[in-house]
Amino acid sequence: MSTYKIAVIPGDGIGPEVLHEGIKVLNKIAELDGSLQFEYTYFPWGCEYYTQHGVMMDEDGIEKLKNFDAIFLGAVGFPGVPDHISLWDLLLKIRKSFDQYINIRPIKLIKGAPCPLKDVNREELDMLFIRENSEGEYAGAGDWLFKGQENEVVLQTGVFSRKGTERVIRYAFEVARREGKSLTSISKGNALNYSMVFWDQVFEEVSKEYPDVTTASYLVDAAAMLMISDPKRFEVVVTSNLFGDILTDLGAALAGGIGLAAGANINPEKTYPSMFEPIHGSAPDIAGKGLANPLATIWSASQLLDFLGYENYGKLVLDAIEELLVEEKVLTPDMKGTASTSEVGDRVAGIIGKLLLSKTV
Ligand code: NAD
Ligand code: IPM
Ligand code: MN
Repeated sequence: MSTYKIAVIPGDGIGPEVLHEGIKVLNKIAELDGSLQFEYTYFPWGCEYYTQHGVMMDEDGIEKLKNFDAIFLGAVGFPGVPDHISLWDLLLKIRKSFDQYINIRPIKLIKGAPCPLKDVNREELDMLFIRENSEGEYAGAGDWLFKGQENEVVLQTGVFSRKGTERVIRYAFEVARREGKSLTSISKGNALNYSMVFWDQVFEEVSKEYPDVTTASYLVDAAAMLMISDPKRFEVVVTSNLFGDILTDLGAALAGGIGLAAGANINPEKTYPSMFEPIHGSAPDIAGKGLANPLATIWSASQLLDFLGYENYGKLVLDAIEELLVEEKVLTPDMKGTASTSEVGDRVAGIIGKLLLSKTV
């Protein structure tokens, strides 16, 4: 029996609702496999915890998470706690403390997923965003001088280290080479005359080690336009922390909506646990009503399975999501359905059971 220890952080708003369905799917896989099991430890951290204890997570929280095989997270943030506190003291703290410097976000228009573009060829909307996840514009470096005074000045410094820039670009080249795809770098060297000129230079340098990988490089403003007008240009994409954050929400809108977009925060060296989560937030506007779409979280469960080495099951979960979308019967309201969050989770689990059975028969 292979046992994996998963730290579960449901978090705030719709976080617990969608995570429940992700776990339902993992359990279904384990039950059908028979030789694989997940052992969950729940951590009640988040905004409610903050209002009770004055902290988003325990002081030794990072230490507590250190020895898990993976972290499965719902979403963080709720009105009443300033977002920069709730996110910096929990989600971003985990990403940074565990050096999860790779954020993998698939923007793939799977069968049945709605797309706002007309005449789109499904196969041509298949991007894999690799977002720098540890520094850049999210380094948290800066200052707030003369607060509240007339001469008030705020500094938010982008930090691009040679090590940090090289490693994410090299990782993206490795993925592109492995998958036989092109690699596109997105930056902004015309206006950001230090950080992005440096980024472009490093991209150019590292590309010399991968002469077999076709490359392209776009300014972020043009890239935002091209993702809509000509999405097939983008296959594997590497970009900075902030640009990756923004463009993957745009990508989510192209590839079925925010309720379908998943993300994996990876520490490739496996020195620390990696973390899997939907890319959407806690959606306070629909929390507690059973309206949230759990598919993004279920897709991130598929990434978790891939990461643990069960790519066959990762693919099976994606196939099940695809089948659910194609049959168009059990969908949440954001996808024009009437089903609840848990009904969608039940249906995905049901399809997984059916698919596995048909494979073994
Ligand atoms: P959001 O992603 O929570 O919501 C944006 C819109 O999308 C809302 O209308 C919401 O109802 C809808 N939506 C999101 N997920 C959905 C789902 N699974 N099913 C159906 N509809 C869904 O973004 P926001 O409103 O900008 O932020 C809300 C809070 O979440 C803030 O506190 C923010 O800081 C936080 N946030 C957290 C994360 C995270 O934990 N990873 C990510 C983004 C935002
Ligand atoms: C995301 C989120 C986070 C980010 C926020 C909540 C800090 O928007 O994961 O996309 O910007 O990284
Ligand atoms: Mn985001």
